[in-house]
Amino acid sequence: MSTSTAPQVAASGSGTGTARPRVLSGIQPTADSFHFGNYLGALRQWVDLQENYEPFFFIADQHAITVEQDPKVLRDRCLRAAAQLIAAGVDPERSAIFMQSHVPAHAQLSWVLQCLTGFGEARRMTQFKDKSAKGGEGAASVGLFTYPILMSSDILLYRPHYVPVGEDQRQHLELTRDLAQRFNHRYKKTFRLPEPYILKATAKITDLQEPTAKMSKSASSANGIIDMLDDPKVSAKKIRSAVTDSGSEVRFDTAEKPGVSNLLTIYSALTGTSIEELVGQYDGKGYGDFKKDLAEVVVEFVTPFRNRTLELLDDKETLNDVLASGAAKASAVAERTLADVYDRVGFVKPVSR
Ligand code: TYM
Repeated sequence: MSTSTAPQVAASGSGTGTARPRVLSGIQPTADSFHFGNYLGALRQWVDLQENYEPFFFIADQHAITVEQDPKVLRDRCLRAAAQLIAAGVDPERSAIFMQSHVPAHAQLSWVLQCLTGFGEARRMTQFKDKSAKGGEGAASVGLFTYPILMSSDILLYRPHYVPVGEDQRQHLELTRDLAQRFNHRYKKTFRLPEPYILKATAKITDLQEPTAKMSKSASSANGIIDMLDDPKVSAKKIRSAVTDSGSEVRFDTAEKPGVSNLLTIYSALTGTSIEELVGQYDGKGYGDFKKDLAEVVVEFVTPFRNRTLELLDDKETLNDVLASGAAKASAVAERTLADVYDRVGFVKPVSR
């Protein structure tokens, strides 16, 4: 499996008439706001891929409950997630935007795939090891353990060509391909083997205070994360106080200068200016000027995003309509795949009388 660059695709590239090849991805509603890692690592690609693909994007509420959630907070975050997807540019006219729990086929296929997964195979998933490390394995839920298998189901149900994600999801994609292959081999060719779509430049946005660690909701300090919905003034301050490396030269070098390199990545991604050009632009200037300018770029970017999200959140009825029509589109596809799976494993078809 290779790291993808933009897949070149003709408007009708699947070989099945006029159907466009599919993309699918999901995001967890486990924080009040998405952060820059989510946006640059994944969401931006979702927006771009809508153009030439048939897109399915969902909010992984079932994944969220693998760790304890306050029901009221979770419900609120799910709608905030939907609003943020739309504010980021995911277009409900073109993309199916839906809640995972609205399409029961995800959990249904997950059971079948769990029965196909080796215990040792599931145990090798590094995210489980990381996420269960804090409280110890004994305290982690079985759901957290089987999380990657639910993720495989999310993907395989839609038979997508590409799954746009950040680097941290690569291992789950590998499991997904293994399970698809196993099922196809044991029963009959049913699933497409999906390719990860991981843009090298933004595959791992790092923490502003700890620039060798990935930017993550569970970061030790809030100052390390830029939340898309933060007050723009706060985001600007976080950029200005980001950890930079020794020396004063603005240069891209992830080993020697992980902090500056991360800021260059963000700067380049937000402005479309190449890293090379940026380095030239800041030749002879210090970190101060560089961070001040990036802070302005960030403010300019997050302000309209935040305003649009808040506007969308004022109209819950429209958000719920978007989710309902997304779930209808998704269910139509997912139920067909599930019916094939049930048939192939030997379940008796229910007859309606
Ligand atoms: P989640 O909710 O943790 O993150 C959503 C997306 O953001 C990417 N991402 C990052 N990319 C670059 N740098 C970072 N620092 C960074 N942090 C997060 C993630 O890689 C992801 O693409 N298991 C998934 C949700 C999921 C899913 C799926 C994704 C459930 N089912 C099916 C794809 C297909 C997750 O927890 O993502």
